[in-house]
Amino acid sequence: MSVKDVSRRVFLGGAAASGALLVGGLTASGAPEASAARGSSTRNLLYVPPVIDVAQLSNPYDLTEAPGTVDLGSQLSKAWVYNGTLPGPTFRARTGDTVRFTLHNGLSEPTITHWHGMLVDHLNDGHPIYAINPGGTYSYTYPIVQRAALNWYHPHPDMLTGEQVALGLAGGFILNDDQELALGLPSGGYEVPLVLRDASFDSAGNLKYTPKGGGFLGTTPLVNGTRDPYLPVDSVVYRFRILGGANARVFGLGLSTGAPFWLIGNDGGLLPATAKVTRIELAPGERLDVLVDFRGLATGQTVVLRDLNAGWDLLEFRVARQITDTRTIPTTLSTITPLGTPLRTRTFSFDGMSKINGKVYDVNRIDFTVPFGDVERWRFITNGNAPHPVHVHGASFQVVQRNGGRGQLFPWEAGWKDTVLLQDFETVDVLIKFSAYRGEYVIHCHKLEHEDSGMMSNFVVN
Ligand code: C2O
Ligand code: CU
Ligand code: CU
Repeated sequence: MSVKDVSRRVFLGGAAASGALLVGGLTASGAPEASAARGSSTRNLLYVPPVIDVAQLSNPYDLTEAPGTVDLGSQLSKAWVYNGTLPGPTFRARTGDTVRFTLHNGLSEPTITHWHGMLVDHLNDGHPIYAINPGGTYSYTYPIVQRAALNWYHPHPDMLTGEQVALGLAGGFILNDDQELALGLPSGGYEVPLVLRDASFDSAGNLKYTPKGGGFLGTTPLVNGTRDPYLPVDSVVYRFRILGGANARVFGLGLSTGAPFWLIGNDGGLLPATAKVTRIELAPGERLDVLVDFRGLATGQTVVLRDLNAGWDLLEFRVARQITDTRTIPTTLSTITPLGTPLRTRTFSFDGMSKINGKVYDVNRIDFTVPFGDVERWRFITNGNAPHPVHVHGASFQVVQRNGGRGQLFPWEAGWKDTVLLQDFETVDVLIKFSAYRGEYVIHCHKLEHEDSGMMSNFVVN
């Protein structure tokens, strides 16, 4: 951590000044560090969090952030969790529903929950200014006014987000709509959320956060909170809803057999058309909707989802059963109307490890105002310290151009996005229009150590 990071954290009374933060306080579980499981034939059954159709409940859903003990497969670990599970429960709702939550702070420091990707008004957005103290509560009520997509939720307090997410606080939120349901995509047990992240552990096997200004990189991958996971699969087409849930790590996803992903969606829902890809870069905050075809594989065969960047095996699929599946992979998926000609251009420079346009974040300072309903071009540039996954609250955007660096747009950047990966030497242009709500939102780097250090900016849509 830089001096700046530490002073910002200490200034707010954060507990992380020591640089290494353990989930401690409780007795060690006694479970040995489960490194023996890595690389051996012993794998743990993939955890799939409970799904809650939150709009069907007659009362607001109680969502609690608190310390807890979770089973990561081969070990029990202390973590910070939503309602006792890691990841938190998967919420589901449909366009037109209204959802209600009561957030409870069971931590020993301020927190607030943000609904990443959700089009909500300022009061429901989990802006850091609404962080609640230990023992406090916050009520959310909002209608679902957007198309089907995989969104997610995680803490968003000023300067403490990286710690709270790294220690386990995050969950998926799936939105459905009629257009998506009409495609008849794989569902039930054939639709599986995969929350990808990395983690570090102390000698007792508890989650540990060791922030660095350049980004927290854990030693171990977790899929849905499971170490060394496997998933028994039938010989059919699966739909995987993938979330980049790491603090700072960019995954390079591929399948061990060289088989393709049939990419059908991303942050903002379905793409216009299916794309066949064998490798996908997934940055913190980004989501993917992919079909994987296990037809033709014999029972007992395995396929491994790999991170080609770190050389990690993330998840082993084991074909367990032969089931006939005659589905056709869809080619046309949805209609995306281009936003059209922008009225003006705004440039955002992601500077150092803690600034946007030369300024460190101040929760109380409004940096700019965006006219409601105008199409604008937002240009993201950097002088180094990438990856910077750039994320905007309050609207999705369309990525239209990348110059320098990788010099191209990728199939997973089509359609609607709310997070886009900016690498060194790149200029990325997006088109954006705020037409849902007026009010205050933020733009920030989703490398959470950059965000916590101040690479965030408040703006008002008016
Ligand atoms: Cu996923 Cu402002 O965050
Ligand atoms: Cu967000
Ligand atoms: Cu950054």
